[in-house]
Amino acid sequence: MCGIIGYVGGKKAAPILLKGLQRLEYRGYDSSGIAVLNGSIRVTKTCGKVATLCEKVSENNMPDGVIGIGHTRWATHGAPSDINSHPHLSADGRFCIVHNGIIENFAELKADLTAHGIPFKSETDSEVIAQLVQYLYDGDMISTLRNVMERLSGSYAVGVLCADSPSTLYAIRKDNPLVVGLGQNENFIASDFAAALEHTHNFVQLNDYEIAQLTARAVTFFDRNGKSVEKTPYRVDWDISLAEKGGYPHFMLKEIYEQPKAIKDTVSARIKGDNIVLDRIEFSASNVNSINRINIIGCGSAYHAGIVGKHFIEKYCRISVNCELASEYIYSNPITDNRTLTVVISQSGETADSLAALRLAKKLGSHTIAIVNVLHSAIAREADDVLYTYAGPEIAVATTKGYTTQVAALYLIGLKIAKVKHIISDARYSELLNEIARLPEKVSEILKDTDKIKQYAQSYADHKCVFFIGRGTDYAASLEGALKLKEISYIHAEAYAAGELKHGTISLIENGTVTLALVTQEDLYAKMLSNIKAVQSRGGSVLAISSQKNMQIGKESDGLLAIPDCDDDVTPVLTAVVLQLFAYYIAAKRECDIDKPRNLAKSVTVE
Ligand code: AGP
Repeated sequence: MCGIIGYVGGKKAAPILLKGLQRLEYRGYDSSGIAVLNGSIRVTKTCGKVATLCEKVSENNMPDGVIGIGHTRWATHGAPSDINSHPHLSADGRFCIVHNGIIENFAELKADLTAHGIPFKSETDSEVIAQLVQYLYDGDMISTLRNVMERLSGSYAVGVLCADSPSTLYAIRKDNPLVVGLGQNENFIASDFAAALEHTHNFVQLNDYEIAQLTARAVTFFDRNGKSVEKTPYRVDWDISLAEKGGYPHFMLKEIYEQPKAIKDTVSARIKGDNIVLDRIEFSASNVNSINRINIIGCGSAYHAGIVGKHFIEKYCRISVNCELASEYIYSNPITDNRTLTVVISQSGETADSLAALRLAKKLGSHTIAIVNVLHSAIAREADDVLYTYAGPEIAVATTKGYTTQVAALYLIGLKIAKVKHIISDARYSELLNEIARLPEKVSEILKDTDKIKQYAQSYADHKCVFFIGRGTDYAASLEGALKLKEISYIHAEAYAAGELKHGTISLIENGTVTLALVTQEDLYAKMLSNIKAVQSRGGSVLAISSQKNMQIGKESDGLLAIPDCDDDVTPVLTAVVLQLFAYYIAAKRECDIDKPRNLAKSVTVE
């Protein structure tokens, strides 16, 4: 996913832009560049890491100028190369842009502009924006940018420089995140807070089709009709250290250890005595009783959290819950209407597939709730209701605290609905509420001693394939365990419903095949034991993950990782932490790029 930073103020722009790009590196990118306006616009850009860009900038003498834009590119159109990197200059050199998103009609626009004699240099869709600004420029940048937005289709967050306005930075956006940072005699645009957080904690969200006009001393906003728009700044209390590694070798490990706080921040704010208060989400008896179906939609780990939520909500709310992959949902002509409650889960709140699914569900009449981690993100803003997870910035591409806080949020929603429907006993309700409230301390218990997890992980680090099996909510939890291992260690891993192994996949079990068996559901111990024996009888070795109260399973397996005792219905949060660490230590042993795994991006803002 691309990253954008822009600056206008009293200091030299280049060092601020370069530092901002370093803070955006985690988003995944393949090239980067900056442009500084000082009379004329000077662009320095390169394929490869931001460190290479820094060298290039200093070799060419750091440009002067107190206004500029910067970009990290994750290629979508045109291979990673210097010429395809951003920023892009207009043909006459008077305009310069950085873009995050995809211009879906760039080919037609490019053909049209080329026919008007405007030459193009790159293969990208983004360059068309720079040329279009030049072509439509009428001496007034606000009206020009309004016209540009009328011509563009697709998604975009754009920073713009104009040589005719040497002390003004512009930004426009549609379907792609862009925040405006308000400093002291300096202002910023950024794809996310981390790029500007060391300079300011005060931000404003730019909404779709709005234009931001920034000078050193003032920021003005216009809507698509050119009318000025008042905005209320909000404060982001994430200090920059939260976006740093804080002494951990990887962001992922830091974020695994942040889970007790992340879960606590997510649940404790909503548990008021014996009552669950889900912010402004109204679960009245009438609207709850009108729900005859719940669709939970997400991608990747967010989807896996939804499957864990399905088990819990169906068990206690007795409402049919469908879990849908967002990318499938949007093209499936889904069964969704005004009696469907749609829950869209997304850590970043910017995943294109999930945003498209949200929009479709709303169009079909469904009430929508977003479970999102990033404040004011697109999915958070467009859903009817939002329940934020308070996990703080998640930098590592592989989600950890984002996932466990999503699961905790789903438990709260399920318990709230069950209570409103009066289909859960007071005793069971209080028991579960207490269990959820105690999850942070139980996660802390796991984190206190991870040596055994590390030992097992390191002993399995050279395996080519690992199976994860479980039944019921353990199966749901095993899906996330398999994804974690795959995405950061590049070992093939597969999660399987334990009862399903015998219907085909068990043919893959041979001498030495490693299987992790999640065995936390007391009523399924016996079934799981026979599945474990079936694997072992074919030469496979089984590492069981179970509760302290079920240590017996350890004698029947080739190894045991115990989680603190907790209610069977909330074990996925605890088994998730064990499996995150299991994956982490294997990837560390294999010296993988844990925070930025190959081919992956933190948030996939293209469909
Ligand atoms: C999880 O470790 C992956 N990074 C990925 O599957 C992620 O969960 C998925 O892309 C959804 O992202 P979101 O939660 O930001 O929408």
